[in-house]
Amino acid sequence: MTPTPNGRVALVTGASRGIGRAIALGLARDGFDVVVNDIERQREPLEAVVAEIAALGRRGIAAFADVADRAQVQAMVAGAIAETGRIDAVVNNAGILITGTVEELPEQSWDAVMDVNAKGTFLVVQALLPHMRERGYGRIVNIASIGGKHGAPEQAHYSASKAAIMGFTRVLAQEVGPLGITANCVCPGIIVTDMGRTNLEEKAVADRWIANTAMRRLGQPEDVVGPACFLASDAAAFVTGQSLNVCGGIVLS
Ligand SMILES: NC(=O)c1ccc[n+]([C@@H]2O[C@H](COP(=O)([O-])OP(=O)(O)OC[C@H]3O[C@@H](n4cnc5c(N)ncnc54)[C@H](O)[C@@H]3O)[C@@H](O)[C@H]2O)c1
Repeated sequence: MTPTPNGRVALVTGASRGIGRAIALGLARDGFDVVVNDIERQREPLEAVVAEIAALGRRGIAAFADVADRAQVQAMVAGAIAETGRIDAVVNNAGILITGTVEELPEQSWDAVMDVNAKGTFLVVQALLPHMRERGYGRIVNIASIGGKHGAPEQAHYSASKAAIMGFTRVLAQEVGPLGITANCVCPGIIVTDMGRTNLEEKAVADRWIANTAMRRLGQPEDVVGPACFLASDAAAFVTGQSLNVCGGIVLS
């Protein structure tokens, strides 16, 4: 990866495990100090990620907040800026998946998924923008999903939340481009994590995903790291408003 000038700081939400953890460690390897966020319930694994960042020679800071809660997000961002002096890059990774058909989905499940995935991304970005505007610099990386482009049965609300993130990011890129800030999405395919296993409960289903993937394998969290770190780096200075599929070739566009 492109070496990151010393002292840069990134914020990664939902970083206690899975894709968020892998990206946080990838950013640390690239030279960022990393503020890692998750919900209070994930205290122990999040603190383990902080220790892993320290072992890489960078500073890790745990920041507990529910990204769907405006007051908690505002406090987290203010606290992170007060402690580090700067946030150069944010990776909005926190997300949830609840399955259910459109016909049977409880309204609360729709709201919960939209609140964390779509509103959570908006709230974190909104809280950070004054700081990024002031500095005339920012890298915003939103983790969407190929589910937002294609989707699978029983995930209509999840797909809608990820499509919302992409639409949000396209307009955000136009608003913040003149300020020296880029905004892009990464759209992972089927990645083996706690969430990813929801798509892989039956072997036949996993086999079908593999057969439909050009690379003929499932993704690992590490597969998402390079693309996310690229979009968070200076190397991606002229890339904005894009949604990059990182799916081994399930969606070919
Ligand atoms: N795994 C996949 O196959 C896949 C595919 C496409 C996109 N994604 C997306 O990648 C991101 C990471 O997913 P993952 O597979 O690593 O899932 P995961 O469930 O392993 O990790 C999600 C993390 O987000 C945290 N989180 C959940 N709600 C939160 C909240 N309200 N505030 C703060 N943190 C919260 C969780 O505690 C957890 O640490 C998600 O946005 C997900 O939608 C995953």
